[in-house]
Amino acid sequence: MKSLQVLVVNFRSQYTDLIGRSLRDLGVRSAILPPERADKWFAKERPQAVILSGSDKSVNDADAPDISDAILNSGVPIFGICYGMQLLAKKFGGEVQSGTGEGNFGQTIITFNSGNEDGGLWYGLWNSGDNRHVVHASHGDVVTRIPLDFKRIAKPNAFHRGCMGMADLKRKIWGVQFHPEVEDTIDGKRMLSNFVFKIAGCEKDWSPRNLAEEIRETTIEAIGDRKAIVGFSGGVDSTSVTALLSKVLEKRLEAFIIDGGNLREREMEKIVRHAWATGITEPPLVVRAADKFVPAIAASIHAEEKRKAFRLVYQNILLTEARRFGASCIIQGSLAPDLIESGETGSATIVSHHNVGLNFEELEQIHPFKNLFKHEVRALAQELGLPESVYNRQPFPGPGLFVRIVGQPVTYERLALVRWADARVCEISKASGDYQKMSQLVVALLCLDTGGVKGDARSYKPMIGVRGLVTWDFMTGRGYQLPPEVRREITQTLTKHPEIGKVGYFEGDKPPERTEFE
Ligand code: XMP
Repeated sequence: MKSLQVLVVNFRSQYTDLIGRSLRDLGVRSAILPPERADKWFAKERPQAVILSGSDKSVNDADAPDISDAILNSGVPIFGICYGMQLLAKKFGGEVQSGTGEGNFGQTIITFNSGNEDGGLWYGLWNSGDNRHVVHASHGDVVTRIPLDFKRIAKPNAFHRGCMGMADLKRKIWGVQFHPEVEDTIDGKRMLSNFVFKIAGCEKDWSPRNLAEEIRETTIEAIGDRKAIVGFSGGVDSTSVTALLSKVLEKRLEAFIIDGGNLREREMEKIVRHAWATGITEPPLVVRAADKFVPAIAASIHAEEKRKAFRLVYQNILLTEARRFGASCIIQGSLAPDLIESGETGSATIVSHHNVGLNFEELEQIHPFKNLFKHEVRALAQELGLPESVYNRQPFPGPGLFVRIVGQPVTYERLALVRWADARVCEISKASGDYQKMSQLVVALLCLDTGGVKGDARSYKPMIGVRGLVTWDFMTGRGYQLPPEVRREITQTLTKHPEIGKVGYFEGDKPPERTEFE
């Protein structure tokens, strides 16, 4: 296999892996390495392009991550993103101010500077009339003075200070103060494409078929002649990973399904159908464990505590199953966002995902999809010939309905109520065609009792929250607004239930919100 053409220096931004994903989308693979490992790799591999990521640090911090002069002065094109640009500004003599309260968070508008000083970064994006562009910014620090040899290539809107883009064409260095790697930057893909292809001269070297083969090969090699188990949820990740390996491992792989009491209406039937679609030859094993999960989860109403309690029970079940089957490794379908959000790749912990950070002495955990994003796994699932119900399936968190009961302890009654509400909302939004437009629909029981009238009597019952999100990377996304007539039908249907007081609709974006209520 050809060596990688792009080095992404990871300064621990939660968006770093999205840079890798965006590049793969453009057909280019990349190495994502922390600064302390980037140097050696750079010297050995001599990539064609270097991208510096964002960071949770400030360049003015004493322990600000850095990059070596060897890379800076190599003549290889460098593209600094957010922190990456601030670092370049500081290193070449510019000024970066912290704590002025002039940061810029969320979608914002920038204007390209006139003149041909972008060196091709804005290629195809330059409009003679209007040079304003919508980008996603997320920075507290501001570049207030760019280095001498640099030219400003983008400026912020009237409400913000600082520089939004700079370039030194002689040194082949570019910097932007926003995130081209997230979908909220409307032309971000084009900017990255301009950098890797037009500026750095990279060639395409990635496709889903190559990827399937590469992952299969490396995973089979890691498993060797051992037996492996896979926790099967019927979602696109665990279904694809099982399909990828089942034909090679055959009876050495066991897929089992856990019913923790947290599944949606008639979900087990769908999971079993997906299990058969992977090419397994034995019926999947179903572990019924609601009696283990529910009391453990009910001990706390705090989402992170619930996730941790879930993880513990889940871990014990995996261990018991592995011992029974004689397996010494566990295959997990965890993706890059799961690992990023769980803090495993160095960024701050946002959510503790149930299948990340498990602790087994006797079992090796293998995450074949650890570098992939959802849409890549969907492409892989299609490549593997899995049905549409698999590759278009909306994600459903491992802890399932447990994290969709908010504010009061989980009980069997509350689970039944949120399960019922979820099924009705799904039915109605599928019939109206809205479900298919959302990347994820979340229906949660919000245990805030609210006054109402049921029959002739006053009632005081909890609420149901409905929230839709449109995204493809699940790192950023837009809230989905259900049409008024669909909302009305949902509200009328749900509030007929004697235990539901009101229905609320949530339409915020991520960030600043998250997909789940908890
Ligand atoms: P948030 O709420 O962080 O969710 O925007 C992003 C995606 O992750 C899913 N999610 C989870 N998945 N275990 C999982 O396997 C979890 O604990 C968990 N929490 C959130 C969420 O449904 C969404 O698709």
